Amino acid sequence: MDSFSAGLVVRFGSQLAVVLDNLDAGRTLLVALVESDLSSQDPDTITLGKDDFASAPFQPCVINTQKTLRLSSSEGAKTSSTLTSAALGRIFRRRIEIDARRFTQSVHSPMPFEPGDQVHYGSRVFDEKEVQAGINSVLDFWLTLGPQGNAFQHELARYLGIRFSILVNSGSSANLLAFGALTSPKLGERRLRPGDEVITVAAGFPTTVNPVIQYGCVPVFIDVDPLTGNARVEQLEDARTERTRAVMMAHTLGNPFDLDAVTAFCKQHALWLVEDNCDSLGSLYHGKLTGTFGDMSTQSFYPPHHITMGEGGAVNVIREARLKLIVESLRDWGRDCWCDPGKDNTCNKRFKWQLGQLPAGYDHKYIYSHLGYSMKPLDIQAAIGREQLKKLPDFTAARRRNWARLAAGFKPFEEFFELPEPTPGSEPSWFGFMPLVRPGAPFTRRELVDFFEARQIQTRMLFGGDLTRQPAYLDLEPVNGRPPFRVIGDLAGADRIMNDAFFLGVYPGLTDTHLDYMLETLTDFLEARG
Ligand SMILES: Cc1ncc(COP(=O)(O)O)c(C=O)c1O
Repeated sequence: MDSFSAGLVVRFGSQLAVVLDNLDAGRTLLVALVESDLSSQDPDTITLGKDDFASAPFQPCVINTQKTLRLSSSEGAKTSSTLTSAALGRIFRRRIEIDARRFTQSVHSPMPFEPGDQVHYGSRVFDEKEVQAGINSVLDFWLTLGPQGNAFQHELARYLGIRFSILVNSGSSANLLAFGALTSPKLGERRLRPGDEVITVAAGFPTTVNPVIQYGCVPVFIDVDPLTGNARVEQLEDARTERTRAVMMAHTLGNPFDLDAVTAFCKQHALWLVEDNCDSLGSLYHGKLTGTFGDMSTQSFYPPHHITMGEGGAVNVIREARLKLIVESLRDWGRDCWCDPGKDNTCNKRFKWQLGQLPAGYDHKYIYSHLGYSMKPLDIQAAIGREQLKKLPDFTAARRRNWARLAAGFKPFEEFFELPEPTPGSEPSWFGFMPLVRPGAPFTRRELVDFFEARQIQTRMLFGGDLTRQPAYLDLEPVNGRPPFRVIGDLAGADRIMNDAFFLGVYPGLTDTHLDYMLETLTDFLEARG
């Protein structure tokens, strides 16, 4: 049988069409119709120019990707025109995009909330744009970090107004790489060495602190104010010794720590500052975005965070280009070479280096200046992240609105709760709403949390509570006869959070109906307690 390959332009009577597929061993053709209206703005259509034809230049035309027919091949007459595979790909891509939109709208559209449905504390919020971006990236099949990743890195850095963002596979990896970078020999005298001390806080997420220990340094825990969740900066001086070299801590649940005090302290004593901005993308301090004040900062793109790409994170390098190269080296196996994946010889002297005790001209691609990891995400994740980034301003507004609503709803019950407070001068993009049950309240945190959870309303603790009481920290051995960490004061604030705080979600997927239900549940609980 005469074959009609995909891309061939065929004529059926007076109608032209493009073959998309051969069915029934070529007896039937799936075709898309060629339209003559070149001005069509219909999103179903693709306009083809002369470069889209591999053979016999064809006049520009419009293909309606949704107007397809199955025709008997015996009815079709071949023309001498064939589309390039790229043009055929554009037709298929548009068809897939349209189906992805239909799929997402029918399968993933949020359903109206009914009491008894799960109220998440955080989750991904997305529409067809993220799904289409992910699929398009799969169709590109670049897979490893590439064009989408580069674009995301630039877009995130531009949003933050900083020099570089480096994509990694999680917020925890971002913290590990940011801290690891400070230990690089490339920093000369400013390099952190084992035994150096790093000031941090005890209440929070463990992977803000773990890298300090993993690199043989010593975390020095200062306490937090339970209402802001952030460092009691008046303890900074008490924590400082000759070995203090850095401050690394998180803006708790989106609430900026006192950046005036911390940046002044770091400047005065020439300390590195790493801001864990994983829960705070979009928060402002004196009108400037958090994550832009220190030397480096980190992001997480795990689903409950301000934007998501599934798994993922970023190290933001605020000013110093050498830190970017070090972070990339650590992320990419520790290599000295900085070529993008799939590229060779960006430095133009690939075989002209002599480093370490390697022979002169040893391939730069395989020269390692750090003890590195492999921590890149996929390009598909970055494609999804780019769509999320466009939504960030709306997400931020929703987080602030939802937090304000919960704050207003808890306000009448202040005799039972101490309520969270934004740090003076800040405009947080909140990660959660964290009240503290007052010591004299006629109920415990556990009872209230159980009540919320029984009504399918998710609650969370402030992550690890007081980290110094976690098994992983209690199990740490002394290092060279020195304790594995130091504690300033009694950490009463961190313990208060560990014992009495919990948080509810404020993420943009929550509607007024969800928030009403959360507050009704609170009222029901308090009424039941008299
Ligand atoms: C403050 C903080 N830092 C780091 C992380 C780790 O991020 P990831 O889960 O992407 O590793 C989290 C996780 O939620 C976090 O809350």
